[in-house]
Amino acid sequence: MKKILVINGPNLNLLGLREPAIYGNRDYKALEAFVLESGLDLSLQVECFQSNHEGAIVDKIQQAYGVFDGIVINPAAYTHTSVAILDALKAVAIPTVEVHLSDVDSREEFRRHSFVSLYAKKVIKGKGFDGYREALEYFSGK
Ligand code: DQA
Repeated sequence: MKKILVINGPNLNLLGLREPAIYGNRDYKALEAFVLESGLDLSLQVECFQSNHEGAIVDKIQQAYGVFDGIVINPAAYTHTSVAILDALKAVAIPTVEVHLSDVDSREEFRRHSFVSLYAKKVIKGKGFDGYREALEYFSGK
């Protein structure tokens, strides 16, 4: 069974509370439940990790080396700023799918650029929770 690490970046722990018009009413716990259930359904072994700290995300990516077969990451605000997360993904060379709940291209100009997209095999934007399922499907081949 393939092992997939699902990483969510800063402020995604505040889902439900945070700008519900953009990110919806469901909370982070509901996102984790949705992701874990999608994993079961797709016969993938999924672990979820959320952090508000760039270094903690870099550490988790480094620790994924030799353990996980794929990474699904919503780097949140670090998408647009973090060379460190990009470099960590490149270092471990684990196939990665980037996910954004909102359609980052139709928002502020600064959200259009993603460092992680320079490495990600696929980028899914604006599909809410379903985007995470689509990302997992990439690894399951379903
Ligand atoms: C986000 C989009 C980012 O621009 C933003 O900083 C986030 C969430 C999304 O899921 O739509 O925190 O990654």
